Amino acid sequence: MENKSKELEVAIRATQEAGKVIEKYFETEILKEFKEDKSIVTKADRESEEIIKKIIVQDFPTHSILGEETGMTKNKSEYIWHVDPIDGTRNFSNGIPLFAVSIALVHENNIILGVVYNPATHSLFYAEKGKGAFLNDKKIFVSKDDKDHAIVTASPSKLDIDRQLLLELYHNFPKVVRSDRILGCTALELAYVARGGLEANIQLGLNTYDFAAGTLLVQEAGGKITTLEGKDWKFPNNYFIASNGVFHNLLVEEIKRQKAKLNIQQNHE
Ligand code: IPD
Ligand code: CA
Ligand code: CA
Repeated sequence: MENKSKELEVAIRATQEAGKVIEKYFETEILKEFKEDKSIVTKADRESEEIIKKIIVQDFPTHSILGEETGMTKNKSEYIWHVDPIDGTRNFSNGIPLFAVSIALVHENNIILGVVYNPATHSLFYAEKGKGAFLNDKKIFVSKDDKDHAIVTASPSKLDIDRQLLLELYHNFPKVVRSDRILGCTALELAYVARGGLEANIQLGLNTYDFAAGTLLVQEAGGKITTLEGKDWKFPNNYFIASNGVFHNLLVEEIKRQKAKLNIQQNHE
């Protein structure tokens, strides 16, 4: 991208500095701590968030920051940075190179920019609203693959209701699409849809810092995002389908069918 904003430059620098910290710990004996919800946190998560916040505050001292490990630092301005210092901590701590730093800047629920950086592969995905999506400075686009050639992923929360829906969907996916996966790193699942490596990602109840950056990548790469019901998607709704657009309605219908089967009344609009 030729005309990056100062905000994007800062976000990229923050992901890369955090990436250096994470790289240092990858494939070493790292101490894992368990949070209340039994998810894992490591020293690398904490150091990564600390360095990201430090870099953002230097240039944008009035902005608010929502970080997974330290929560909301509320400030005067309407600009909020949504920061996941390591998305895919379980993969990271088990030596699986599918994890990323994810940073998005949001203004009044509009995602202005998103950066997803995988330090293990040095893949830097970034997008700014209206300026396209990029991987390592090359423009990226969603694929044109149809359902018979598609790989679909899903990213579930830990809620029973989301897990049940996930299981039903995966049970039936072989009849609907070519292939399915769960990568354990939401930010990358969305970035791969943007890059045309995956055809769709179904989000079931995660946090804004998991998906905000990835959704902008998908939209700027020409993809489609709707609610599970097929309606217009708006941030911060955390139930949605992000796809290349080719067989999007088929996924909407499939989710409708499985929700009815499970008698899930919850409306995800
Ligand atoms: C996790 C990843 C994963 C999703 C989990 C999240 P974390 O984030 O995004 O794809 O399925 O529910 O918690 O905890 O590694 O930052
Ligand atoms: Ca996450
Ligand atoms: Ca995380």
